[in-house]
Amino acid sequence: MKITYYGHSCVELESKGIKVMVDPFISGNALAGKIDISKLNPNYILLTHAHYDHILDAETIAKQCNAKILSNPEITNYYGNKKIETISMNVGGVFSFGSVGEVKMLQAIHSSSFPDGTYGGLACGYLFKFENRVVYIAGDTALTYDFKLLPFIYGFIDLAVLPIGGNYTMGIEDAITASKFMKVKTILGCHYDTFPVIKIDHVYAKKKFKEEEKELILLSIGKDIQINFAQEI
Ligand code: NI
Ligand code: MN
Repeated sequence: MKITYYGHSCVELESKGIKVMVDPFISGNALAGKIDISKLNPNYILLTHAHYDHILDAETIAKQCNAKILSNPEITNYYGNKKIETISMNVGGVFSFGSVGEVKMLQAIHSSSFPDGTYGGLACGYLFKFENRVVYIAGDTALTYDFKLLPFIYGFIDLAVLPIGGNYTMGIEDAITASKFMKVKTILGCHYDTFPVIKIDHVYAKKKFKEEEKELILLSIGKDIQINFAQEI
């Protein structure tokens, strides 16, 4: 499975020809200027909540490649009205990608409204079981004791994509506690550096994770990682 980082909280999982993008915010991200969104062609776009820094490019990308938008009813109603094909579910629900795997929608501790103030439903995160690997994409969230439940759903998590920028979400220390709660060793950081208020010190962040025997990966925008490491505690 390949995971590509498109900046801020936008990642794309690719497995067996299926591409699943989460939270496209590229054209409004000054750090992601090299990414040409006209070349992106996911099959599915999953949205964690309706804040603009997660949905900005969802409509453009969905329309250019006929991607389906999967999210909660408040968000899928909004895109359904724009003639985009949607998949509506809510926290606790599971969607199957056929032989590739499935995704479960789980709650995040965060607010959610569209840029015009319209209610965006519950903010969520997504737990993927893809190729028998487990990847958790937290979305915007604070630290919550519920992270302890995650290894009980699909087994141990191979990779967690966690916000680490603070202010709107968990910062470095809380993300380390979250990693301990969910027993994950490898963390891909997101939701940092995009705005002045969420700028982090990369060296410090990696050091703090390493002190707890965790690996924090900070990918350059447009770069990817392959996941084929064994599951272990
Ligand atoms: Ni948000
Ligand atoms: Mn955000």
